Amino acid sequence: MSPKFLFLQQFIRHPRMVGSVIPTSDIAIHALLDPVDWQDVRCVVEYGPGTGVFTRRILERLGPDARLIAIDTNPMFVSHLRQHIADPRLICVEGSAADVEAILAREGFEAVDYIISGLPFSTLPPAVADDIAAATARAIRPGGQFLVYQYSRFVLSRLEANFANVAQGMVWRCIPPARLFWARKGNEAGAALSDAESLAVA
Ligand SMILES: C[S@@+](CC[C@H](N)C(=O)[O-])C[C@H]1O[C@@H](n2cnc3c(N)ncnc32)[C@H](O)[C@@H]1O
Repeated sequence: MSPKFLFLQQFIRHPRMVGSVIPTSDIAIHALLDPVDWQDVRCVVEYGPGTGVFTRRILERLGPDARLIAIDTNPMFVSHLRQHIADPRLICVEGSAADVEAILAREGFEAVDYIISGLPFSTLPPAVADDIAAATARAIRPGGQFLVYQYSRFVLSRLEANFANVAQGMVWRCIPPARLFWARKGNEAGAALSDAESLAVA
């Protein structure tokens, strides 16, 4: 089955979980990943990889000894990734982003450099969205970042509540236009002052 057909099929079966009818466009993927410094990255987590459009682009940027832990609740997507991306740096986990800390502990990591989210925050139950934002802030090392792409600003308040600094961007040249967020964890534990910046993107 083609990745696009699998994506559409899973959206029809689980609209709130998948949250979009088509995978993210390559323009939005590069716009989110390009501003990040990928040197010296040891471990990255991806939430909601789906058919792997971001996964492949993250792997292109990662060094040979780094690890990418991709977590998705949908077993069809996890099995698709395991079959179609043969890369020893990729660890595919069937589970929820809300359990990121337990998943990291199981894989032998205390904290990660970046977490990249494709989760449909606006269609998740609010308590789950809150739990994921808080667990993510705990799982990222001081100075690390939570990178998020969405089609609305819904997630912003959760980012500002958990991260020291939130930069925003917008990609107009994709359908629908994508909102991008780079939320940085403060260097001191507990720092949560919001300092919103705006980046002009694409
Ligand atoms: C909008 S799709 C994004 C897919 C892909 N990253 C892309 O950009 O095309 C959302 C993905 O999040 C997954 N998902 C939804 N809730 C989740 C959760 N609590 N934990 C992990 N993955 C979840 C869905 O199964 C789906 O793969």
